[in-house]
Amino acid sequence: MTTSTEAKLFEIKTVWHDAGRVYLLDQTLLPLEELVLEITTVEEMWDAIKRLAVRGAPAIGVAAGFGAWIAARNAAAVGSDVRGAILSACDYLATSRPTAVNLFWALDRIKAFVERHSSASGRALAELVLTEAEAIRSEDLESCHNIGRHGAELITNGETLLTHCNAGALATSGFGTALAPMFWAAQVQGKQIAVFADETRPLLQGSRLTAWELQKAGIPVTLICDNMAGSVLASGKVQRIIVGADRIAANGDAANKIGTYPLAVLARYHDVPFYVAAPFSTIDAATATGADIPIEERSPQEVAQVGSTVTAPSDINVYNPAFDVTPAELITAYITDRGVFERIENGQGLNPESDS
Ligand code: MRU
Repeated sequence: MTTSTEAKLFEIKTVWHDAGRVYLLDQTLLPLEELVLEITTVEEMWDAIKRLAVRGAPAIGVAAGFGAWIAARNAAAVGSDVRGAILSACDYLATSRPTAVNLFWALDRIKAFVERHSSASGRALAELVLTEAEAIRSEDLESCHNIGRHGAELITNGETLLTHCNAGALATSGFGTALAPMFWAAQVQGKQIAVFADETRPLLQGSRLTAWELQKAGIPVTLICDNMAGSVLASGKVQRIIVGADRIAANGDAANKIGTYPLAVLARYHDVPFYVAAPFSTIDAATATGADIPIEERSPQEVAQVGSTVTAPSDINVYNPAFDVTPAELITAYITDRGVFERIENGQGLNPESDS
């Protein structure tokens, strides 16, 4: 449901369906170019997820749902086995990126949906899968609104926040997780806030995407290199840090973009509250601790180059983990679609008053 309050909020279309076609905004080209791609095959969706044309944990889940539908639609068009096409598309899309649990959550949801509709086949099944993919997208948008609403209560008028990577509109169905409380505080509650955005090497999601989004939304944003965060925190310029998550283990350890963990250590040292914002679909009760979260390693080129410019000797050894894990003890609280929780235990949000 869109209320007049929500209508004021900054949103971007990231991945969507319109009249039988699936589109996404190619995030690899931002902020220089706003190119919309039509995705016509499962292979194209796999590639878009792998090369980060669509990225951010919730958006990857939404893209996967539409990818499964594309498989169904294409199979129905040539009269082949729609159910088999959906299930094999789900298995294939699951190999695109390993860390964001939202991908697997969405694919499991599609598979369970197909099981529940075992009497449907052909075009009818394809049409049903589209409704489920659309539901994943609209529920994500609603989660973002709830994260924004809950998180904004923590933000005081006049404060400056810091964020890492991009957990904004581009990383979701259009409103964000870590940036949602900032959008809500500024655009619904009218609070004056400012944001420092970490650049986020190697792929610069902070400078290319977060700085772009916040600037478009009219929220004052200052870009810093990742290695400047320590001195910015030491200067007392930042009152609160909010980041997103790709997977939160059952004990509350959170995987997010590489560089999040050292930021949390700095935050603890400088006594700056450190929040993780994510929908409940990012909490993985089946993964006990952060040590069990699979961490994606990406191409050496991403580190040895900035864009297409080579910045290291050829054949240099490179280590390029895309994510790190922040232990639960460094996280002040989790801003979720169901409220703000001080702890996650057994995959459940807890606050002191609910302990017993
Ligand atoms: O590699 P990316 O750009 O997909 O990494 C994204 C992040 O680490 C985000 O912070 C995370 O997915 C949360 S998005 C709401």
